[in-house]
Amino acid sequence: MKDFKFELAGLLSSKIDSLSQDDIYKMIEVPANSSMGDYAFPCFKLAKELRKAPPIIAKELAENLNKADWVSNIENINAYVNFFIDKSLLVKEILDEVLAKGDKYGMAETLEKGNVVIDYSSPNIAKPFHVGHLRSTVIGHSLYRIFEALGYHCIGVNHLGDWGTQFGKLIVAYKKYSSKEEVEQKGISELLRIYVLFHDEAKEHPEMDQEARDYFTKMEKGDEEALALWKWFKEVSLNEFQRVYDMLGVTFDSYNGEAFYNDKMEAAIKELEDKGLIEISEGAKIVRLDDENMAPCLITKNDGSSLYATRDITAAKYRKETYDFKKCIYVTALQQNLHFAQWFKVIEKMSYDWAGDLVHVPFGMVSMEGGKLSTRSGNVIFLEDILKEAVDKTRSIIEEKNPQLPNKEDVAQKVGIGAVIFDDMYNNIIKDIQFSWERVLNFDGETGPYVQYTHARACSVLKKAGLDLDAIPRFEIDYSVISDDATVGITKELADFNSVIKAAAENYEPSYIARYAVDLAQAFNKFYHDNPILVDEKKLKESRLSVVAATKYTLKNALYLLGIDAPIQM
Ligand code: ARG
Repeated sequence: MKDFKFELAGLLSSKIDSLSQDDIYKMIEVPANSSMGDYAFPCFKLAKELRKAPPIIAKELAENLNKADWVSNIENINAYVNFFIDKSLLVKEILDEVLAKGDKYGMAETLEKGNVVIDYSSPNIAKPFHVGHLRSTVIGHSLYRIFEALGYHCIGVNHLGDWGTQFGKLIVAYKKYSSKEEVEQKGISELLRIYVLFHDEAKEHPEMDQEARDYFTKMEKGDEEALALWKWFKEVSLNEFQRVYDMLGVTFDSYNGEAFYNDKMEAAIKELEDKGLIEISEGAKIVRLDDENMAPCLITKNDGSSLYATRDITAAKYRKETYDFKKCIYVTALQQNLHFAQWFKVIEKMSYDWAGDLVHVPFGMVSMEGGKLSTRSGNVIFLEDILKEAVDKTRSIIEEKNPQLPNKEDVAQKVGIGAVIFDDMYNNIIKDIQFSWERVLNFDGETGPYVQYTHARACSVLKKAGLDLDAIPRFEIDYSVISDDATVGITKELADFNSVIKAAAENYEPSYIARYAVDLAQAFNKFYHDNPILVDEKKLKESRLSVVAATKYTLKNALYLLGIDAPIQM
């Protein structure tokens, strides 16, 4: 596809010595109103160097530029040079490209750009999978698909929180308050019940904390009984997590959690010592980060036990050795900012040049009914319940609006769950979310169901025209009959998909894709409103159907990048 913006940047750079084609490319804008042209170049930045007023520079450029044959007009408006592209050529370039690729539009053909490790979801064993973990799961899964779309090979790692002192507590609590049958029957909710009970009781009986620490030490020393219980708790939890992953359609390439690094930490600690980074402070091993204005990074406690950061440092080294990553991305709540900043610094101090390839992608909190969600207090809304409720609510909306729909159950799943996923990524991920059913499931809002509905609508038009949805339609398109504003508007939107994917990856922001999907859906609905599609005139009908097909693929691919399915009917 001809990148008109880039070509225009080339035309401009031949007249502007101080800026490269790439610099200019970044400066070119798309005017909000198409009567101002398809692209515009602002001249403000040139004023200083050329010692002329920006409108004069713009006027001179507009007069002196060589007009390529695909440029229908160059005008100067105030400080801008405005370009009008030959409309039918514009539409042709874009439609041809999208329809040549179909399902693959926006997706790299091969994954040869190197490895990217993405650490996401990573829930803690024996604790519920809550809405915060949902965000990590869906954002990480989306980043996975976005990086693959750009040609990287991704490795999705579920860095399970399966080691630490909480397991000592759990063992003590289990022995005191529970039984094999109860855990088998109730799973994580039983483990959570006794964990909360432990905390309440330990306030009055501090000796329980000591008992828990002793059990954890036993685990670290390889005690069989303690390890068997730990392993069992882990299985029970993983079974439940798996149910959620299946609902979300999320998979991982590795489940190496914290415990996986138990036998690898010693070497990492020794390396820190050999490199002179360790200091002993009250019996604990720490790496000082005073020069970075950060609290020290704790490597071992005074009883010798390891910490969260110790396992992360060890895991990062292992991942570099195993995958030789170009980037290693960690998706967690922003409350962990300091943790990542600290141990990233430790890696830097170890003189590893790949320290700069470690990326923390923090996200904001999800709250419900105004309350914060936390494990300890037991005030947890289980994610599975939210997903099930989303499906239930969608099922009743379908019953009400479209009771004849075939595959109702399947559509309810895809739309209900897609709605929750979409809502998690619609705004910049650093923002907090106040969860609201009304917003999430609004079919007319800026939501997942709205985008899915628009996709289904495009599918239904194609079906009505007798087209096979699984094959890319190959019509002879008459581009001159589809150069109206709404069509040009939507094709330009289609063309932006590639650069949106790139920007989403550069900024670790799936929200760019979500916003794009809504913009595209809106452009389609305008196009559909302005242009009757199933008209008698064959050429016109087929040309418009081609626009519908191109939009259908792009909407579907955008939803795919977010980890959302696109039903063909709803
Ligand atoms: N288990 C942690 C939690 O639930 C998240 C782990 C994130 N990944 C990592 N490598 N630290 O908060």
